[in-house]
Amino acid sequence: MSRDIIYCAAGNRVLIVCGIIGVCQREKLVLGEPIGSFLKKALQRLEYRGYDSVGFAVIDKDRRITLRKKKGKLAEIENILGFDAFDGVVGIAHTRWATHGEPSDRNAHPHIDCNGCVVVIHNGTLQNYQELKELLISRGHLLRSDTDTELIAHIIEEKIREGLTPLEALRETVKTIKGAYAFLAYICKEPDKIFFAKNVSPIVIGLGNGFNMIASDIPAMISHTKRVIVVEDGEMGYISPDTIYIEKDNNTPIDPMSRVITVDWTPEMIDKGGYPHYMAKEIYEQPIAIRSTLAGLPDQITDEILRILLRARRIYIAGAGTSYHAAMVIDFMMRNIVDLDSRSFISSEYLSTLRSLDDNDVFIAVSQSGETIDTLMAMRRAKSMNAKVIAVTNVLGSTIAREADYKIYMRAGPEIGVAATKTFATEVITGAYIVEKLCLVRGIECSQLSKEIRISPSITELIINKYFKEMESLSKILKEARNMYFLGRGSTLPISYEGALKVKEISYIHAEAYPAGESKHGPIALVEPGFPVVFTIFDDEYGELIINNIEEMKARGAYTIIAASENLERQLKLANKPIALPTMRTPVASAPYVAIHQMLAYNLAVSRGYDPDKPRNLAKTVTVE
Ligand code: AGP
Repeated sequence: MSRDIIYCAAGNRVLIVCGIIGVCQREKLVLGEPIGSFLKKALQRLEYRGYDSVGFAVIDKDRRITLRKKKGKLAEIENILGFDAFDGVVGIAHTRWATHGEPSDRNAHPHIDCNGCVVVIHNGTLQNYQELKELLISRGHLLRSDTDTELIAHIIEEKIREGLTPLEALRETVKTIKGAYAFLAYICKEPDKIFFAKNVSPIVIGLGNGFNMIASDIPAMISHTKRVIVVEDGEMGYISPDTIYIEKDNNTPIDPMSRVITVDWTPEMIDKGGYPHYMAKEIYEQPIAIRSTLAGLPDQITDEILRILLRARRIYIAGAGTSYHAAMVIDFMMRNIVDLDSRSFISSEYLSTLRSLDDNDVFIAVSQSGETIDTLMAMRRAKSMNAKVIAVTNVLGSTIAREADYKIYMRAGPEIGVAATKTFATEVITGAYIVEKLCLVRGIECSQLSKEIRISPSITELIINKYFKEMESLSKILKEARNMYFLGRGSTLPISYEGALKVKEISYIHAEAYPAGESKHGPIALVEPGFPVVFTIFDDEYGELIINNIEEMKARGAYTIIAASENLERQLKLANKPIALPTMRTPVASAPYVAIHQMLAYNLAVSRGYDPDKPRNLAKTVTVE
């Protein structure tokens, strides 16, 4: 996962994701298909990197440039863009995950300079975007979009206008921009080449016979070559049909052939970066998703947001499915740590829950996609009653973000697996970060919370690496189960609901969660020898209370699986399957600890022969009420 990291101003690691692809061929059809068709297929393999807008440019042998781009998912707009109709000798294409400038036709890539002689696509974020923009505008450049990428085209144009060669212009441009970038530039002065430069964002060159390619990731090129060169930070150069030129800082050429590696992946695996399923990949992406999200929060959690939360008569926090479970964790922290009057509810219950709100109330919409209709309708109802609305989402420019008064973006990167994983963790961490800030304003002691927020990425990494295999073997023990319980108390109730949802939605075992104290009032009637019961326990005031609930389940022969802080030895001793986790004392633990439930559900699905990525009857984003 490390190839998608930048260091933001605060020195934190941040994840940035778009998909870029470029190809130069000696003549038409060397690839065995029109260059437009190749570009389209390459984007399909890069779409997991971002899919809010798409574009390409094809240059034919007479240097005519055809540029097409549009907002939307590739599958929805590929016919409108007409990829297959275009052949040529040079082609570049891009699938976007918006960072600068909302998804729109004008912000889609490629971007051009004033005269259309420089065409650029880019994956990354320029940190000196604002000053460069003002400088270029003051020098009379015509900017057509809100993107940082377009600035690169105009800077190259400036350098060419000063009489530099395209390679010299590339060098000077790289000296001018700051941040993360992997960009490709077609410069009409040298029409058989694609120029490139890399800092942090990934670039890989693919070697061919009569053609060469360059892309964000290997999947885009694997259909035509397995021989690749991974470009390193600070390197730049160009490809042409028969040449690959790479140089490092101060113009030192590198022998590209000494860097060629051969890839031996199956096509299926490639789409998932070497993982068998998107869900597995996204489980492993959680540490960086959390780090990236944390890096992006300081600028977004403004004093104004903190003020309206602290002055609120009541705070309503709504979400659906996994996002509702994250809303429960945020609600628990607001009530129990900051002592605010908050309540979480399932979005689709908005009619009965949102009664007589006014501008003294705050509504927080939690939604990774930002498109879930239940949460949108709940938000609109709160807004119609003048409540102040905050959106916590993972998708820039999504409907819920657009309609909210305040937007807080997570940076989990695209989540393709239908079962939400990394976005639960980033939603919990976003809520914890807000609660930490509220404590600091109110002078409430929160050092343990702060510590656990900062260590949560490394704890998550540790838990995943230590327990993935164990959850695989546990799933083999449980795979014939027809029912399961996930039990918690207080702080561990939300994560228990999330565990039950994950098992239900991808392994189709009926799993139920409820407060452990409720067992003796009915649910325990279902328990018989071997009945799997998963307990989750943090090292907090509920850790002792739950012991009786474990005992009563054991007395009926339940198979107890206990995921608990490692210092809770008495509790862990009661387990048929103890899972000792790094000690955590605050609800932040929900983010790292949920990996256990995700990995159990994932392996249960696989061991029962189901595809965890394409669960039946479910869609990633639910846009119907
Ligand atoms: C969770 O794994 C499911 N995909 C589903 O419950 C999901 O959490 C729910 O539809 C909410 O989606 P959102 O976060 O995009 O609003």
